[in-house]
This record gives sequence, C-alpha cells and structure tokens, in this order.
Amino acid sequence: MDDDRLTGAGRPIRSGRDGISDSYRPAIRATTFILLLSPPLASCSGVQSALDPAGHEARDVANLFFVMLIGGVAIWAGVVGLLFHAARKRKPYSEKGAGWVILWGGAVFPTATLAALLSYAVWLMPNIRPWFGEDAGVGRVEVTGEQFWWRVRYLDEGGAVAFETANEVRVPIGEPVVFLLNSPDVIHSFWIPVLGGKMDMIPGRENRLTLQAEKPGTYRGVCAEFCGTSHALMAFTVHAMEPEAYKAWVAARRKASGGQDQEGLALFLRHGCAACHAISGTEAKGTIGPDLTAFGERGSVGAGALPNGQEHIARFIRDPGQVKPEARMPHFSMLEEAEIDRIAAYLKGLR
Ligand code: CUA
Repeated sequence: MDDDRLTGAGRPIRSGRDGISDSYRPAIRATTFILLLSPPLASCSGVQSALDPAGHEARDVANLFFVMLIGGVAIWAGVVGLLFHAARKRKPYSEKGAGWVILWGGAVFPTATLAALLSYAVWLMPNIRPWFGEDAGVGRVEVTGEQFWWRVRYLDEGGAVAFETANEVRVPIGEPVVFLLNSPDVIHSFWIPVLGGKMDMIPGRENRLTLQAEKPGTYRGVCAEFCGTSHALMAFTVHAMEPEAYKAWVAARRKASGGQDQEGLALFLRHGCAACHAISGTEAKGTIGPDLTAFGERGSVGAGALPNGQEHIARFIRDPGQVKPEARMPHFSMLEEAEIDRIAAYLKGLR
C-alpha cells in the first residue's frame, strides 16, 4: 500500500472557497468547540458552584480540577500541534522520527503526566476528608433526608439534640463541622457544592461528612441522588457565619418562641397544623413535618421550592402538591382564604 495514503504526505493541499486548507478544518472545528465552552466555564461561579469554593474541601477539589484542566488543555494543544505539523509535511516521516514521537509522546509523556497527577491526588486525599472521632469537640449536626425536605438537628456536646430546624444549615467559618447523615426510607445525597463533595444518606446507616467553611456567605445545598418526584425541589440554604454571629444565632435559636402573635398561633393550632409541625415555646410539638420555629428567617418555602414570602407560604398551605408533587403535607384548600393568609402571616413573622 502507498504509505502516502496513510500519512497524507505528498497529497496536494486542497482549499475551499474561503481559501482555508481542508486539512486545517478539523483543528479549526475543535478550537471553535473549546472557545464555545469557555463562557460557560467562566460563569461557573455562584452559590451552588464547586468551582467557586467557600470551604476547605471544595477548594482542594477545585484546585485538582484546574490542574487537570490545564494538563488536559496542554495535551490537546500538543496533539493539535502535531496534527498541523503532519498535515503540512509533504514528505513522510522518517522511521527514526516516528519512533521518537511514539517513545516520547506515547510512553514517556503519558507515564510522567499520569504519575504526577496520581501523586498529587494521593497527597490531596488525607487533607480532603480529615477524620474527627466521636469526642473531638467539634460541632455536630444531624441531617435527615425526608420526603423532599431536610430535618436538621443541632447536637450539644453530650450528643443530645439541642434544637431542631429544617431546610437550613448554619455553620461557623474556620471550624470543622461533622454532619451525621441518615434517611428513614429512600437514599438521598447531601451536597453543598461550595463546601465540599457529596455524601449519600442511606436508611439504617449513619454516614459522616466533615466540612469546613472558610468564607462567610449564603450558599445553596441540594439533594444529589434521585429520590422521587420532587427530587429536584429538595434544596436547602447554607449560612456560613463568623463564629461570634454563629454563637449569637445558636443562643437566640435556643430561646426562640412562637408565642408573640397569639391570634395567629391560635389559628395554627385550631386547624391541626401542630399534629405535624413543632414551634418552640408553644403547644405545637408535631414531629412528622419540618420544625417551624423561627420560620420567618428561612430562605425558602418548601425546601427551596419558593422564596420565603407570605403569598408563597399561603400558596403552599392551600395546596402543597401543586408546588411540590408528592409532598406528604395534605392540602388545606378547604380553609377560608383569610385564615390561610393569617396563618401565613403568622409563620412569616416567626423569629
Ligand atoms: Cu432527596 Cu433527591
């Protein structure tokens, strides 16, 4: 067989009407593709981006990503360079030249690159998930994945539940926090992209995940394992706070009471909301649904389904299934509009 047919060497270089050589077209297409990818990559910042880290683990993972990206682009550029070179070369490669390319490009370079990347990843691993034993004195938060919402319990030093909240996690910056993750029925996955990697919540088992926030801010956490119809509507707010502000919040939260608006509370109790929901300092002690203490401070209604506002709360009470399919809360559309609005105002006012 004619060697020139394999290498393309010696073939006349054809050009299209635009004067671009045909042999350059694949490289031009590949370059355009990479350039088109650049804007989405540049916009990888925000409250839910692993590439815009606000925590120790996420920062290491983002660094690893960028090291691999740069390595990948360098290899790609090398291959495209060779492609250009081969396309322009009129004479076939000498046997010696081809052997050199195979030895260095096919054996030495990949071995060295992969060894370097592996060493970097192995060196990174122990730092990413440090292990804090039972009594390391770090903050512990128990998070349970429920049917499309998050039960969040803050534990005191002895391991007893200090207080409960839902769909919102607050952590002090600069301190590790151990999350104890579990689920009563199906598998969910707890993920705060800006702070670190995800971890499954498995029924009958307690998984532990240690995260440390470094930058104060409000971020978003999500469920990263398909768990049912409203899996995509199962998010939570993360507040990374200065340690002093965090302490003040814990103290306020321990004292929170829902008794200020007596009329609203009376309606809430009369219509049976307390069978499922609890509000500290009141007779409402239900445990089936989310704890609603200080609900007005939360970032959303229905675990990230709607922004927290009186109208949205009323809409959710009227028909939760319309906002969040398969949510376990029954609809309350039989109540009068005025009563629903009154209960919504009461909840929005809870601090
Ligand atoms: Cu919970 Cu997906």
